[in-house]
Amino acid sequence: MLQRKANTSRFTSQIKILQMNNRISVHDISLKKNHQKIICLTAYTFPIAKILDEYCDIILVGDSLGMTIYGMKDTVDVTLEMMINHGKSVMRAVKKSFVVVDLPYGTYEESPKQALESAQKVIAETGCDAIKIETSRQMIATAKFLVENKINVMGHVGLMPQSVRKIGGYKYQGRDEKSASEILETSKLLEEAGVFSIVIEAVPATLADKISTSLKIPTIGIGASENCDGQVLVIDDLLGLNQEFKPKFVKHYTNLSAEIKSAVAQFSTDVKSKNFPAKENLV
Ligand code: KIV
Repeated sequence: MLQRKANTSRFTSQIKILQMNNRISVHDISLKKNHQKIICLTAYTFPIAKILDEYCDIILVGDSLGMTIYGMKDTVDVTLEMMINHGKSVMRAVKKSFVVVDLPYGTYEESPKQALESAQKVIAETGCDAIKIETSRQMIATAKFLVENKINVMGHVGLMPQSVRKIGGYKYQGRDEKSASEILETSKLLEEAGVFSIVIEAVPATLADKISTSLKIPTIGIGASENCDGQVLVIDDLLGLNQEFKPKFVKHYTNLSAEIKSAVAQFSTDVKSKNFPAKENLV
């Protein structure tokens, strides 16, 4: 009996190792550059991550959850605890995709040491593969320090949503020569610092193209260019969960808010008319 238990647990751990080995790695992602587009979507919860896992290379537990899940007006008040809880939920569902968790505002900007503590906490508690930080030039040293300490880091240039209160809203970046060259230079320095990939958000396509061709690491675009090495969308936007939110770079692939509305209206009608629960729904 004991022997059988031991064999079973050995078998279970072998399966676990196999499952772990089936996960997409930084190396797999880097090989896609110039060969295959990288598919990236945000997910914040177990059921959505379970669906996305089959189709995504990278699942991003983005701090956009401040808006999509918590109804905040921006990402600035998102906490590390929120990111950890949603990171855990997503990680329970994912078998294949590479999972990146955002470090939220106020948890990494103070010093490289603060960033490392936050990154290590997120990775230890969720088991995710990498963290993402919004990376102005001042964050290069932090990115380098994280990489030196064996953290997989994704950069984020262009529009950095954690700065919206500072810059006065969600504005396209890199439109003039000076800011375009600053974003390009920052991207190059981030590559040198060792980040494995960079999200480029809301910049002119010409700038995004220049960044993508200048770097050996893959770029993931959102409101950037079709020539980025991959694309990312916030899953709620793709699903059309908020019909009022439709900036140019968003495509609603379905109208889930209408679907939910119609299902809930039908439930309400059925309960009132005593059509639910029906006989087959009762014990
Ligand atoms: O938080 C997020 O969802 C993001 C993506 C928009 C890239 O950072």
